Amino acid sequence: MGILDGKVAIVTGAGLGLGRIEALALAAEGAKVVVNDLGTDLDGTGSSESPAHDVVKEIEAAGGQAVASFGDVSSWDDAHRIVREAVEAFGDLNILLNNAGIQRDGMIVKMTEDQWDSVIRVHLKGHFSMIKHTMDYWREKSKASGGEPLYGRLISTASDSFMMGNLGQPNYAAAKAGIAHLTLSAAREVQRFGATANVILPRARTRMTMSGPWAGIFAPPEDGGFDVFAPDHIGPLAAWVASPHSQNVSGQLIQLWGKNIRVFEAPKAGLEYENDEPWTVDNLQAVLGPYFEDKKPIEDSFALPMM
Ligand SMILES: NC(=O)c1ccc[n+]([C@@H]2O[C@H](COP(=O)([O-])OP(=O)(O)OC[C@H]3O[C@@H](n4cnc5c(N)ncnc54)[C@H](O)[C@@H]3O)[C@@H](O)[C@H]2O)c1
Repeated sequence: MGILDGKVAIVTGAGLGLGRIEALALAAEGAKVVVNDLGTDLDGTGSSESPAHDVVKEIEAAGGQAVASFGDVSSWDDAHRIVREAVEAFGDLNILLNNAGIQRDGMIVKMTEDQWDSVIRVHLKGHFSMIKHTMDYWREKSKASGGEPLYGRLISTASDSFMMGNLGQPNYAAAKAGIAHLTLSAAREVQRFGATANVILPRARTRMTMSGPWAGIFAPPEDGGFDVFAPDHIGPLAAWVASPHSQNVSGQLIQLWGKNIRVFEAPKAGLEYENDEPWTVDNLQAVLGPYFEDKKPIEDSFALPMM
């Protein structure tokens, strides 16, 4: 008996890295899993059907149920087909875990149009296409049942880069910020179906984190101690957010690494003030000058805030 017995899930980008871990975790809790993957390189080039099939074999070997769904989440038609394949294979769709992603880092002055477009397309349009077709299915299901609440979980994947605007990741940071706010908007809309939408912010060792300037931070410990960035730590979070435990959790941003967890609050004001007079440059300076006096400008650094 698992906490997701009878539930049907799609995990995108589930052929490798965190998606694979998440698909295995959902299947271990009893979910029937559609393993989507395009089998790309880190930069989004190339494609292969093997990773998705390999993960299906792993799930089946462990006694679970899964089907492979090869396709590009940022293609409207592929996203529609992936959702249809879940319903055709397993009769329903309850959980959409949007995870697929690519990385093409660069400083703004060196960034090409294609670098920008491809990262925004795979992450942001990829999340939206999958959410859109999932919600279309839920809308029809809800109508057909006369408005009965359904079991629905939208889970999106953002990152530190959204919180911090990492140096050298303007495309990735912007895509992840878009994903966070797309998901908050979706959380308001899916309430009418009885469903939820949340964002997870993982930190773990995959080819994505082992390729950047922070690779040293994510490397396994040399002394054989606790492996803070082992990707397996992310599985339980995916399963918890997908589970009935999170029925009253929606529009939240949850970060996990190692034995640590953080819940971020939606942006809130650092300063709130109502002036007696309409604003002028001088009276703005009278209010903002003292507020910013002891605050430092953002640093020229990619460093992850670990604590
Ligand atoms: N690793 C981390 O610490 C970390 C931190 C924050 C956020 N993330 C996010 O987690 C997600 C997974 O990252 P990862 O580290 O496992 O990377 P990864 O490169 O190991 O895995 C990404 C997977 O997505 C697939 N993919 C790429 N483009 C696709 C497309 N258009 N359609 C379908 N599948 C596609 C790839 O084939 C690959 O299997 C990404 O969204 C990433 O931005 C990772």
